[in-house]
Formats: sequence, structure tokens, C-alpha cells
Amino acid sequence: MQIRLDKFLADAGIGTRSEVKNLIKRKAVTINGVCVAKPERKITPDADEIAVNGTTVAARGFVTYMLHKPAGYVCAVKDDRFPTVMELVPQNRDLFPVGRLDKDTEGLLLITNDGGMAHRMLSPRRHVDKTYLAVLDRPAEKAYIDSFSVGVEIGDDTPTLPARLVICDGGSPELAYLPEKYCACADAGRVALLTIQEGRYHQVKRMFHAVGSEVIYLKRLTFGTLVLPMSLKKGEAIRVEAL
Ligand code: URA
Repeated sequence: MQIRLDKFLADAGIGTRSEVKNLIKRKAVTINGVCVAKPERKITPDADEIAVNGTTVAARGFVTYMLHKPAGYVCAVKDDRFPTVMELVPQNRDLFPVGRLDKDTEGLLLITNDGGMAHRMLSPRRHVDKTYLAVLDRPAEKAYIDSFSVGVEIGDDTPTLPARLVICDGGSPELAYLPEKYCACADAGRVALLTIQEGRYHQVKRMFHAVGSEVIYLKRLTFGTLVLPMSLKKGEAIRVEAL
């Protein structure tokens, strides 16, 4: 796996991305003994020897998986009652789930040992988009779009941040993710895509509840720039480039 030199150095704890860019520009960094001036240079961490001011930098060995979480698994490292998502990825290297999906929610979940990345993806200040496909118990009303776009009261101290709702019609490509048993719901206007930038407890279910609908099926399709691949089956995980 190849990664950018500046990302490798930042992940290895040498400094922030801009600090390591400065180091590279000041010609303090070598790849296999040769000085490099380009932060975007690609390196192979397992094969190349990277040094800063003559001292070799060890990779921290971060690993991140994208899991297609099936319903029935809890997002915890350990649980006494239910199977955990950790059973679905290789068991090593201090992995943990990046945030939580409810036990009955399916879809894109990251599992990593990279605490910095997890923090960046989850930080409320970074407003990382997450898109969910939701099947409702009744047709979604157009008024929900406006309510969600300004934020709704869901019983917390503050209303939700503005969120984007799209009510699916028969032509929505995201319907390809819908389990067959819910296909008729799309024709009935009961399937919607909701993009939120927060990660409050049961947030999507509570937002629909606040406007008068209940979520009967929920799947996360995207997280930041990542999209759940159609080819990734439920319960399968793939490694993703560090984010
Ligand atoms: N919102 C929910 O209500 N549940 C999830 O699992 C994720 C977001």
C-alpha cells in the first residue's frame, strides 16, 4: 500500500500535516537516503526507509477497515449479550469502531486503531457528512425537508444542525441498497435519504420521530468521502487507505 510522504510522517507522530510539510521543504526528510522536497511523494511504508534529520521513522501501523455492518451486531469492543462488530474484522492491533450504529442499523462502519483519524471523523466541529437510507412507517412529507433544513428539537439541549432530506422516487440510484422486502415502500414515498453532520444518540430515528414518522429500517451509505461499495456484502470488511 502506498501513501503520501506527508501523511506517513503525520501518522507516525512527527507533527501536524503542515509541520511535516515544512520539514520536507527544509530538506530534513530522506527516502532511502535521498533527500525529497515534495510532500505528495508516494512511499511504500513496508519497503522504504524514511528518515527525519537522519533518524529513521517507524510507521505506527495504523489500519482501518470499512465494514458493511449487518443488523444484530453492537458497536462495542466487548459485549456480554450480543455479538460485536469486532468479530467481523481481523482480531488484532487494538481496533475499535469509529462511532456507533444502533444494533438494528446496517451499513458503513469504520473500525480502526487510528485514534487521530477517529477523532477527525467524529469531531462535531468538523461537520463530517453521513448519509442514511431510511424506510419510514408512513409516507415522508415534503414539510420534513424544510423542518430538517433548519434543525429540529429532539429533546436535547439544542436543536439538530441543519440536515438534508431527499424523498426517494423510483429513479433514485440509492434504492439499489434497499432490501427487496422494502421495495414497495419506495413507490409509496416511504423511503428517504437523510444527510446529517452530527452523531447524536439515535439521531436519525429521533429526527423522524420529531416530525411524526418512525424509522423501520436504517442503513448508513456514506461517511465523509467514503461510500459503501455495492459489492461489499453484509458482514464483509475491506481495508481502506488511512483517511
Ligand atoms: N441514527 C440512528 O438513529 N441510528 C443509527 O444507528 C445511526 C444514526
